[in-house]
Amino acid sequence: MDTRREKIIAITSGKGGVGKSSIVTNLAYILAAKNKKTCIVDADLSLGNIDIFFGMIPKFNIKDLIEGKKSISEIMVEGPNNIKIIPATSGIVELSNLTEEQRNILMFSLQELDGYDFLLVDTPAGISSNVVYFNSISNDIFIVVTPDPASIADSYAVIKVLCNKTGRKDFNIIVNMVKDEQEALSVYKKILSVSDQFLDVYLDFLGFIPLDANIRQATKKQKLWVEHFPETHATKALIKICNKLVS
Ligand SMILES: Nc1ncnc2c1ncn2[C@@H]1O[C@H](COP(=O)(O)OP(=O)(O)OP(=O)(O)O)[C@@H](O)[C@H]1O
Ligand SMILES: [Mg+2]
Repeated sequence: MDTRREKIIAITSGKGGVGKSSIVTNLAYILAAKNKKTCIVDADLSLGNIDIFFGMIPKFNIKDLIEGKKSISEIMVEGPNNIKIIPATSGIVELSNLTEEQRNILMFSLQELDGYDFLLVDTPAGISSNVVYFNSISNDIFIVVTPDPASIADSYAVIKVLCNKTGRKDFNIIVNMVKDEQEALSVYKKILSVSDQFLDVYLDFLGFIPLDANIRQATKKQKLWVEHFPETHATKALIKICNKLVS
């Protein structure tokens, strides 16, 4: 009997810089505060920066794991609320397209992780083979999009590629950096109308996060905004999204 209980969630996007890592790190904090055992996998293998969001300088990273030099428990670091982090590394070009063998090492290592409620996988932006791979091994796929027309167009493109290459049909949309729910819903409806026309997929509106100056301020200081601004609009919005995951 498969006794594994963790849910693997890939957080992905078409365009870069839309807030994936910001959402992953802060969502992990809220989940962990709710006593959900949470691990973040920095799957941006060549430009990973999850450690920076936590103000950490890990000694080892996923490269050491993939090269067989360290085990997953040796590269894992611990963040606030007991969040576990599998750090990546910046500037390692050779990891931007994992080989079959490297994927197997990674897959076996992730299977060694036991007893987690959530594995949050922060993927790179775009439609590289790594992006397709990490989405394919996840239970749920979250697509982060902003009102920027380029982000909307690229979200559609990434959904199309993921659907074609992995056969996945269910996608959860988080609209970030909006004025209010109305703007978020209008972004969601734009993606929905194109995908309804051309793709056989189901897009769920998971929620939105307002454009919030406190996020930038916290990020600059390498602090989590949910921790340092518990009353700010963005924190309340992310708690709403989190409640949907744990209910
Ligand atoms: N709702 C928001 N309001 C204001 N600033 C935000 C919001 N969401 C994210 N940001 C800021 O946007 C910037 C980019 O965020 P982040 O690094 O999380 O994006 P990303 O999608 O992970 O980027 P990449 O594709 O490069 O990995 C950060 O400076 C972050 O603080
Ligand atoms: Mg990122």
